[in-house]
Amino acid sequence: MKQLTNMNVQIVSDKLAGGQAGFNVFQQAIANGAKVLGLATGSTPVTIYEQLVASDLDFSQLTSVNLDEYVGLNADHPQSYHYFMQHHLFNQKPFANSYVPDGSNLDATAATHEYDQIIAENPIDLQLLGLGQNGHIGFNEPGTDPKSTTHKVALTSSTIAANARFFDDADEVPRYAYSMGIGSILQAKQILIVAYGEAKAAAVAAMIQGPVTPDVPASYLQTHPNVHVILDEAAASQLH
Ligand code: GLP
Repeated sequence: MKQLTNMNVQIVSDKLAGGQAGFNVFQQAIANGAKVLGLATGSTPVTIYEQLVASDLDFSQLTSVNLDEYVGLNADHPQSYHYFMQHHLFNQKPFANSYVPDGSNLDATAATHEYDQIIAENPIDLQLLGLGQNGHIGFNEPGTDPKSTTHKVALTSSTIAANARFFDDADEVPRYAYSMGIGSILQAKQILIVAYGEAKAAAVAAMIQGPVTPDVPASYLQTHPNVHVILDEAAASQLH
């Protein structure tokens, strides 16, 4: 485990080993009394969810709060983050309560206020994050206010392009999302961020060793006291 800035950086051989390492962080947090888990979508967390599903951990007394959701997709849309979470975790391991922003509510003020209230009532003990190639966390794109709470986001063209692989056609990728803000994420007691692959290497280096700047939303994690980073060799390749 390398100590770079304030972050504990753990380098693993591959996604499978990353799943085990991430599982260990969850298991430890729950053993230490974590009651609210902040969860994430994307391909990166999948191996962690596989380990959680295969384990004997019981979430029936815990609460989950997800980072983000596309605006305009109902919970039963196969590309909605609601659907993703049901499929990868909640069907197999139900929580007492699971919250995901309500993408079907087109009233952004109501939807985001409601979600901030949920987070305030359920302070997050451990927040899992993936990392966008441009350094985004959740859907907080470069330029996002570091104090931001839940808000409606216009997705950047690079994020739309990166997520197009999950849709039949790039035109079907939603253009907006509701996302917890950087400020919401930084309120979590502990943060686990995971990144794999060469395409994430520049964002990883900027997150850990670059300046803290709105240009790289993940760089604000340098200001948090308890961040665990899991990387494979390719994602770690631009660290020095
Ligand atoms: C999306 C999600 C992020 C995720 C990112 C990376 O933009 N909103 O939460 O971290 O994609 O996804 P992947 O893990 O598939 O690389």
